[in-house]
Order: sequence, then structure tokens, then C-alpha cells
Amino acid sequence: MTDSKRASWSGSVAFVLAAAASAIGLGNLWRFPYLAAKYGGGVFIAVYLVLSLTLGFTLLVTEIALGRYSRQSQLTAFRALGHPRWNFLGVMATIVPLFILPYYNVIGGWVVKYFTAYLKMIAGGGGIENPQGFFESFIAAPWEPFVCMAAFTAVTSAVIIMGVKNGIEKANLVMMPILLLMAIGIAVYVALLPGAGEGIRFYLVPDFSSCGSIGKVILGAMGQMFYSLSLAMGIMITYGSYMRRCDSVPKASVRIVAADTFVAVLSGFMIIPVVVMFAAKAGEGGRAAIDAGPGLMFVTLPKVFASLGQAGVLVGFLFFVLVLFAALTSAISMTEACVAAVCDFFRISRNASVGAVGVWTILLGAISAFGYGRWADFKPCGLPVLEFFDTSMNVLTPVVAALICLFVGWVLRPKRILAECRRDGSAVGFKIFYVVMVKFIAPLLVLAILASEICRIFGIGGWAI
Ligand code: PHE
Repeated sequence: MTDSKRASWSGSVAFVLAAAASAIGLGNLWRFPYLAAKYGGGVFIAVYLVLSLTLGFTLLVTEIALGRYSRQSQLTAFRALGHPRWNFLGVMATIVPLFILPYYNVIGGWVVKYFTAYLKMIAGGGGIENPQGFFESFIAAPWEPFVCMAAFTAVTSAVIIMGVKNGIEKANLVMMPILLLMAIGIAVYVALLPGAGEGIRFYLVPDFSSCGSIGKVILGAMGQMFYSLSLAMGIMITYGSYMRRCDSVPKASVRIVAADTFVAVLSGFMIIPVVVMFAAKAGEGGRAAIDAGPGLMFVTLPKVFASLGQAGVLVGFLFFVLVLFAALTSAISMTEACVAAVCDFFRISRNASVGAVGVWTILLGAISAFGYGRWADFKPCGLPVLEFFDTSMNVLTPVVAALICLFVGWVLRPKRILAECRRDGSAVGFKIFYVVMVKFIAPLLVLAILASEICRIFGIGGWAI
């Protein structure tokens, strides 16, 4: 697409908001608090902060600059940069969102279900009396998970069809401030509950005795940061391709990292103290209560909300509105990366591309949506379909990220990215840092994430996170 015809953000604030909206998602609300609780509270938070400002910043600058430089989505960017032999990398970076989006939308559908359940409870109806049973019977129901996923997909597709400025920007402008205000509101409410101090201490004070080896903390923080910043999914390349030349890539990247990290840390304040208090009442340890999987968001938290009485219904409702917005804005960004790739590659209209991606998402999503119910017997590699896709993508994303670093570091050359960073006229003070990071350190660190993921899958050694 020619430069003049390509959509663009209306300004640098709109771009930062869109990228932050993509980054802030279920990973911040759900996985960060869990990992912080598991890996020694403050120890994990400190390591995470350092990593996101170094590795996260480097990878983000690289992807955004690649997009803005090529003016293409990830699928066609490498050819447009004059390296058609690296086309395969564009294909890989497109496969990732194409396969993550369908099951991300299934989880989005679960959030829709909880949002409506709390809405009913606010209206005085019955709701989630038995959280464990509610969750288990919902995901195993014959049609409901599919219908909820389809509804979630319809909303994201509607936003995408309205375009970059009128759809994505406006949706973010409504949802992001509400999300932020609610997150702050819930965190303050939780902090004021009697006994919250204990949970906050548990979250913030470094606990070296429980965090295991520092290597594990670093690996856990790195994997989390990577997912949380929506890296290696083509999203930041596509979003960067809509960025104006007069805006600064490094400044935007710092802001995106800061916003994403802020919400991740804030989520810990919302979730950890209440779960710790609840566990203490039940005579359990805090760390054991904060479990890893869907249990935390869809079972443990509803139990905690129920224990707060009438106020808990309102807090639960607000919490699921917040989660819904976070999931929607992330799914929107993934859909956009798929739609833009299909548009750029097939040179078809945006509407046709949204339709094609929508049909793909619903068809592939159906397999995951039915995977705990009517098709529960179908278990690729012994896993429910949703978990199978998740595991495969957890392997593919670090491979894509490492290849992007190697491409930029050794083939395209870092100076081209640095030149793109200087385009708005500002000086770039991190040249040596960037070159060393992108050529050597980032690929190695990213490969370490890959190794730990493989260890986890095959249950090898003690390095799995
Ligand atoms: N970054 C998002 C989060 O933290 C997740 C995400 C994954 C977003 C894939 C877009 C694409 O939850």
C-alpha cells in the first residue's frame, strides 16, 4: 500500500494508547500476580522492572521501527525491506496471531460469561453460588462457550471494520481510561479492607526463601514480559506501520513499557491481598491459594468476592468489566495484525479481510471452545485443544523473537533501526546499548525462554517455570 493511502494513528498519544491497550491484557491481570506470588514478591517485581526496561524496551523499539520503516504489516515487511529470503519470518510472525487469536477469544468468551453472570447478580438474580461447579459446568456445556466466543469475536470484528482511527482508536479511548480507573479503584478498596496490610506485605516484600533460584525468577519474569508486551506476534510491527514519521519510536516504547508494567503491578494490589486474606481464613498458605491456571480468575476470585458479601457482587462485576475491556483491547490488536497481513498480502479490501479472519477465528475457536465439553475426547498430545494451541505458541513466539533480533542485528543492521529512531529529529542516546542488546544479549535471553518452555513441556529438570 502506498504511504499516502495507508491508515495512520491520529497522533503519538493514540499510538501509545493502542499499543498499551494491546499490551495490557489477561497477562497483566492474571499471570503477573500469580508469578509475583510464586517467585518471592518483591524479588520478582524488581527483576521484572529491570528486564522490561532493558530487554522489553529493545524488542519493542525493534518491532515498532521495523513496522514504521517498512510501512507494512509483519507478513510483507521483510520483503519490503529488501530481504525476500526472510519472508518466512513474516509468515511465522503471522501464524502466531492467527493461531493465538481463536483461543484467546475463547477465554474472552469465558470473561463475557462471568460479566453477564455478575450483571445478573447485580440485578438481583441468582448467579455464581458455587464457583467451582459454575466454571466446570460452563466450560463443559454443549454450546455456551462457543456462543460466548462468537459474541466476543463479533465485537472485536465490528471495531476492526470501523478502521484504525474510527474503530481501534475510539474503542481504546473509551475502554482504557475506564479500565485504569477501575483498577485503581479496586486496588484502593482492597487496600482499605481490614487485614489487607498482611497481603500487601506478602506481595511487595522480597522473600528470598521462597523464590527458588534467581535464574528461575529471571526466566519467569522474561517469559511474562515477553507475552505481556505482545511481542513476536506481528502486532507491534503492524501498529508501528501506522505510526507517523514525526513521532518518536523510543519515547513511545518507554511509555508503553511503563503503562504495561504499571497495570501489572497494580493487578497484584487488586488480587494478592484479597486472596491471601481469604486463604488465611480458610487456614491455607497464601502462596498455595494463588494458583496458576484459569482457576485463579474463574474460581478463586469469585469465591473471594462471594466472601465479601453484598459489596463483593459489585466488586466482582467491576472486576470482570475491567477484565473484559483488557481482553477486548488485546484481541482487537491481534485481529488487526491478522487483518492487516491478509490485506497487504492478498491486496483485498479491509472488509473482506475482516470477514475472512472472522470466519477463521470462529472455526478454529470452535475446536477450543468445544474442547472441554462435546469434543473433550479429542486431545492432541494428550492436552485439551486450547492448552495444546497455547503450548505450541509458547514455543513459536520466542523462536520468532530470536529470529527478528538476528535479522535486525546481523542482516538488516541495527543502524537502520537507529536511523528510524532518529527520524523525528531527536538524538538517540542508547546506540551502543541497543547494538549490544539486539545482536547478542536479546537473542540469547530469548532462546533461554524457549529452552525453559521446552523443559516445561517435557518435564525436564528443574528449569520449567
Ligand atoms: N499482551 C497481552 C496480555 O498481557 C496478551 C496478548 C497476547 C495480546 C497476544 C495480544 C496478543 O495479556
